[in-house]
Amino acid sequence: MSKLQTHIKNERQRLGLSQAKLAELSNTPQHLLSAFELGNSDLNPVMLDSIEEVLSDNKVVEEAASRRKRYQTHQYKKIEHVKERVLRSTLSAGNREYLKALQELAENHESIQDRKVRAISLFSGCGGFSLGFSAAGFEVVGFLELEQGLREIYQQNFPKTKKLGTDITQVTQESLESLAHEIGDIDVILGGPPCQGFSLSGKRHIDDPRNSLFRHYLRFVDAFRPKVAVLENVRLLTSMKSPSGGFVKDELEAEFKRHGYLINHFVINAKDYGVPQHRERVIFVAVREELLTAPVEIAVA
Ligand SMILES: C[S@@+](CC[C@H](N)C(=O)[O-])C[C@H]1O[C@@H](n2cnc3c(N)ncnc32)[C@H](O)[C@@H]1O
Repeated sequence: MSKLQTHIKNERQRLGLSQAKLAELSNTPQHLLSAFELGNSDLNPVMLDSIEEVLSDNKVVEEAASRRKRYQTHQYKKIEHVKERVLRSTLSAGNREYLKALQELAENHESIQDRKVRAISLFSGCGGFSLGFSAAGFEVVGFLELEQGLREIYQQNFPKTKKLGTDITQVTQESLESLAHEIGDIDVILGGPPCQGFSLSGKRHIDDPRNSLFRHYLRFVDAFRPKVAVLENVRLLTSMKSPSGGFVKDELEAEFKRHGYLINHFVINAKDYGVPQHRERVIFVAVREELLTAPVEIAVA
């Protein structure tokens, strides 16, 4: 690391500026400043001048650093307020809107409830997807989840829902058939298979075995023959290739069609539905062919 790199890093830290703050104030992309401080690359003279200018401007530094200090004091020292702050942050305007939407769904679903629309949830996690469907009046009668901890939470959230299994890849054809017989008619199968293989926060390996778990979802579809199957995943699934060179989404849709379902997909962002998060998801909706002869048109409310 050169003397200049060490000097800038030490000076920044001495003045109490975060790397992000110095990058913002000096108009330097943070990844370049980070690479520079790590000794991995140089910065051009214009950026260096701008950084030096910020570091020597007492007024700017003081203001930026004092803002940071107030934030730290607020966050770490007033420990007795932690509870209150957590509550405030979880009940943001966005969350309130989302909870209101769930409540409205729950209050208006009598007509669906009367018809007892039955669903099962695969890859159910602790039950987020099931919560939405229940609020919309569906009765989630069975669930399947690999992780024991998540199964325990799910069962606390949905005590009446029957456990259908743990690892979907280990559910034999025989037990699948007896489950279908025992559970009876199912209107909807819902599930969000693991997304790490598709997500930017994972490695996006083409041959990640998790990318083909939808084939096991299809075994459930074959056994239960629900009217509708809903499958959720990260948006980036739509750009992911499979080992055979095609797109995973095309293979998924082709497989559902081969199994007698018309299928379509659309992308939504949680932030458009009152959830205070930028969270893009692709939703596949498959409808049993004989129930529908026109292509599946999905109306996003
Ligand atoms: C993306 S999460 C689904 C979250 C869920 N939709 C919800 O609303 O909370 C995927 C889930 O699949 C589970 N899973 C992964 N591999 C599995 C397998 N082979 N069999 C069953 N579940 C599995 C994971 O433990 C994880 O909880």
